[in-house]
Amino acid sequence: MRRGLLAAVVLVAGASVASGAFAQAKPEVLVKQRQAVMTLQGKYFGPLAGMAQGKLPYNAQVVQRNAGFLDNLTRMAWDGFDPRTRNEKSRALPAIYNDSAKFKEAAARLENETAKLYQLGRGGDEAAVKAQIGAVGKACGGCHDNFRQKQ
Ligand code: HEC
Repeated sequence: MRRGLLAAVVLVAGASVASGAFAQAKPEVLVKQRQAVMTLQGKYFGPLAGMAQGKLPYNAQVVQRNAGFLDNLTRMAWDGFDPRTRNEKSRALPAIYNDSAKFKEAAARLENETAKLYQLGRGGDEAAVKAQIGAVGKACGGCHDNFRQKQ
């Protein structure tokens, strides 16, 4: 049963490659996708920030779940910042493409801090988790300061 399913998945994936479905996504689609990822990061980070700031009661289960979601989400936005999207309407600043090493560094920083949060979240040291939520928030804000247009 499982094998059959896997074979079907492989077949479908193969067909997509053959028909060019994996060809480059349109720039406006990439923008939508990266903004969607950022929106979800905001959704799952928000409650954690609230807990770290003492505005929400600490909930270890929510921490674990959201940190797991974030650990995956924080890897999904970056390929949406393709130079081909430069002229699309968005809040992404040209510095993303002009200083891409610095942008990649900011992206890696978020991934590292989120991975640490995920690890700590599985522990149970509330103070350490809260401190790490702060570190994640700094990684979000650090990149926004340099690479996102102010509203
Ligand atoms: C390496 C850079 C970088 C990091 C790190 C980063 N962001 Fe962003 N974020 C951006 C940029 C650039 C935009 C603007 C994207 C656009 O307009 O296409 C953005 C946009 C957003 C938006 C608005 C989305 C929309 O619909 O326009 C939200 C919400 C957001 N980020 C949340 C977060 C959160 C929460 C984190 C941390 C968990 C985070 N971001 C980390 C670069 C970053």
